[in-house]
This record gives sequence, C-alpha cells and structure tokens, in this order.
Amino acid sequence: MAGRVAGKVALVTGAASGLGKATAERLAEEGAAVVIGDIRVEAAQEAAAAISAHGQRAQALKLDVTSEADWIAAVAAAEQTFGKLDVLVNNAGTADGTWVHKLTLERWRQIHAINLDGVFLGIKYGAEAMKRAGGGSIVNISSVAGIVGIAEAASAYCSSKGGVTQLTKATALEFALLKTNIRVNSVHPGYMDTPMLQGVIAAYREPEEARARLTASEPLGHLGEPRDIANAVLYLASDESKFVTGAQMVVDGGFAAR
Ligand SMILES: NC(=O)c1ccc[n+]([C@@H]2O[C@H](COP(=O)([O-])OP(=O)(O)OC[C@H]3O[C@@H](n4cnc5c(N)ncnc54)[C@H](O)[C@@H]3O)[C@@H](O)[C@H]2O)c1
Repeated sequence: MAGRVAGKVALVTGAASGLGKATAERLAEEGAAVVIGDIRVEAAQEAAAAISAHGQRAQALKLDVTSEADWIAAVAAAEQTFGKLDVLVNNAGTADGTWVHKLTLERWRQIHAINLDGVFLGIKYGAEAMKRAGGGSIVNISSVAGIVGIAEAASAYCSSKGGVTQLTKATALEFALLKTNIRVNSVHPGYMDTPMLQGVIAAYREPEEARARLTASEPLGHLGEPRDIANAVLYLASDESKFVTGAQMVVDGGFAAR
C-alpha cells in the first residue's frame, strides 16, 4: 500500500531531536524522502542513519535556521539529492523561561531570530523550491504559547510563537492569492515530553514538583508524546489536507481550550 506522503520530499528543521525527529521518522514511514536539517550536524546524521536503516530515504545536513546562506544551501541540497521539495516543516526552536524584567535585549533578539526569523527564511526559500515543484505544504510549529499567554513560557517565547501564528495566516493568504498551490498551516503543541521540556523542567529549583505541575495543567492529565505532533504534521503534509490552509491545528491535551 502506498504511504500517505509517498513520492514527496520533506525538509524538517530541528529534526535531530524531539518533535522534529519524530516528525521526520513519521513522514519517512509514510513514504516521503526526508531531509534532516539541524544546527547539530552529528545528531542530524544519527537521526538520518536511523531512518535509512529502515530502508527509507533520508539525508542530514547542517542548517542553522537563522542563516540565510544555510537556507539557500539546504533547499538546493534537497532539490539536488531528491529532485524537488514538497513539504517544509519549520520546527527548530528554542525555549526560554526568563521573565521579561530579567530578559536582555540580546537574548530577546536571539529567541526571535531562531523561533521567528528562522520560520520567515524557511517560508521564503522553501516556497521558491515549491513553486518549481508545482506546489507544496509548509507546516510551522508554533505552540499553545502562540495562542495564549503563559507566564512560565515567558514573554519572548510567547511573542516569537505568536509571530509564527500570524506569519502562517498571512503567508497562507498571500500564497492563495498568488495561486502558487502552496498551503501554510501552524501546529500548536501543548507540553510535550521532549529534551526541550526536560531542560525547562530541570532548570526549576524543584524539578519533580515542576513536572507534576505542568502535567496537571494539561486537561487530559498527561504530557504529549512527540508522535502526537508527528501525526498532525503528517496530515497537514499530505494531500488529505488539500483544502486546509491558514489553519491553527492545536495538539495540546486541551490546554488552550480553557
Ligand atoms: N516540547 C514542548 O513542550 C513544545 C511545546 C510547544 C512547542 N514546541 C516547539 O516545538 C519545536 C520542537 O521542540 P522540541 O521540544 O522538539 O525541542 P528539542 O530541543 O528537543 O529540539 C529542538 C531541535 O532544534 C534544533 N535547533 C535549535 N536551534 C536551531 C537552529 N538555530 N537551527 C536549526 N536547528 C536548531 C536543536 O539542535 C534541536 O535538535 C520548537 O519550535 C518548540 O518551540 C515544543
């Protein structure tokens, strides 16, 4: 049986870890050739090797999403290796729980450079390749913090993820007007059990208490698994979602429903 994204070529950023890694694995399982882009090139190579070991197609490359030159090279590499680009998952991101009164302007800019500028550059250069391929699907990983304010996620993270939410909607409308056949949607994870969240929890004075509190803040009563996000991205990457653009897909255990 053909996979749900058979024949497609997908580039996933931040795919050496957590949600991006699970997404790359899920897309490959369903027939896509995947490009694993990450600033940590060795970890990206390991993730790609694990996919290749299952007989699926994967390539790793160094991609710092804040670098315009890296984006140009990454998109060219995807086209050179696999012939085209159909799917882009702008997943790379960084968390920072610093409260606004303690945040430096430099750190504010770093967070926005990765979480928001990186998505802008991905859309800009990814869409050029998708036009050459006759269309495509861009999935931007925002957060529940891109919909509601969360004191613990903190202001710069919320601000950058809110920017991703709105950038998604505006570009979805632009590409629709331009008749590019490119769809753009955002996915909004709640608290997901990944190295990022584990790092956030470890930074608390009482990590066990923090984990219990974050878990209890999820109406479904548990943290999300990376595959929960991977399945949502798979739907948006596939032609099953051909009438879906500019949408916010919330995958959060009910967190933002209150
Ligand atoms: N884990 C959660 O609870 C949660 C919740 C909501 C949203 N998110 C978002 O999901 C995405 C993935 O998060 P995760 O939990 O898997 O995190 P993670 O830390 O496990 O993985 C993030 C990956 O991004 C890479 N990365 C960091 N900076 C980069 C850069 N400049 N260029 C390229 N790659 C870079 C890292 O090397 C890492 O492999 C992020 O955008 C995050 O904000 C996560």
